[in-house]
Amino acid sequence: MSLKDNERWNKKYAAEEHITGKEPSNWLKENASLLNTGGKALDVAGGEGRNSVFVAGKGYEVTCLDISENGLTKAAALADEKKTTITTLRADLDDGSLPENEYDLVLCFNFLNRNLFSEIRATLKSSGLLFYETFTTDYLKYSNFKKEWVLEPNELLRAFGDLRVLRYREVDENPNAFASLVAQKL
Ligand SMILES: C[S@@+](CC[C@H](N)C(=O)[O-])C[C@H]1O[C@@H](n2cnc3c(N)ncnc32)[C@H](O)[C@@H]1O
Repeated sequence: MSLKDNERWNKKYAAEEHITGKEPSNWLKENASLLNTGGKALDVAGGEGRNSVFVAGKGYEVTCLDISENGLTKAAALADEKKTTITTLRADLDDGSLPENEYDLVLCFNFLNRNLFSEIRATLKSSGLLFYETFTTDYLKYSNFKKEWVLEPNELLRAFGDLRVLRYREVDENPNAFASLVAQKL
């Protein structure tokens, strides 16, 4: 399964342009005032690094983790272009476990692996922030996504309800539908 993910994403990222763009997610930009502590950050399935590079610019020491070498090469190039520094880490999120109590900030955008929810919680330090945004079941109306790739209504709230939820929304605006969360580990 992960071998297939690796091939699939390497192929997509072989294009010269950044297919997910060079600008960070709006959710991250809109809530950037919360990114004020610095420290260690992990961008889970960070791809071509748009969000990693943004938070590096806010003073975090960022690791962009992804299965795709091509994505990570582009992430490192984007960091150079924006005159900032990130660390890239090629890893398969299907088998590794994240280190416990390690990060002040975890980002997870447009990626869903429910087995990771407990690892994300554990890898956050106390007071650490989680930014999570990905597609919801409404997105199935507009795409040929598989059901296992999308969140159920309120799923992020249930999954991370033991954290302090600072911001949450669900958006369904054709052709997009997603849920976004910012939560803080207590
Ligand atoms: C839709 S992209 C999102 C990239 C980035 N988070 C963003 O929003 O720009 C999904 C990412 O998940 C990565 N991915 C897929 N399966 C993975 C796995 N098993 N382990 C690590 N990364 C994986 C892909 O390589 C790809 O970069």
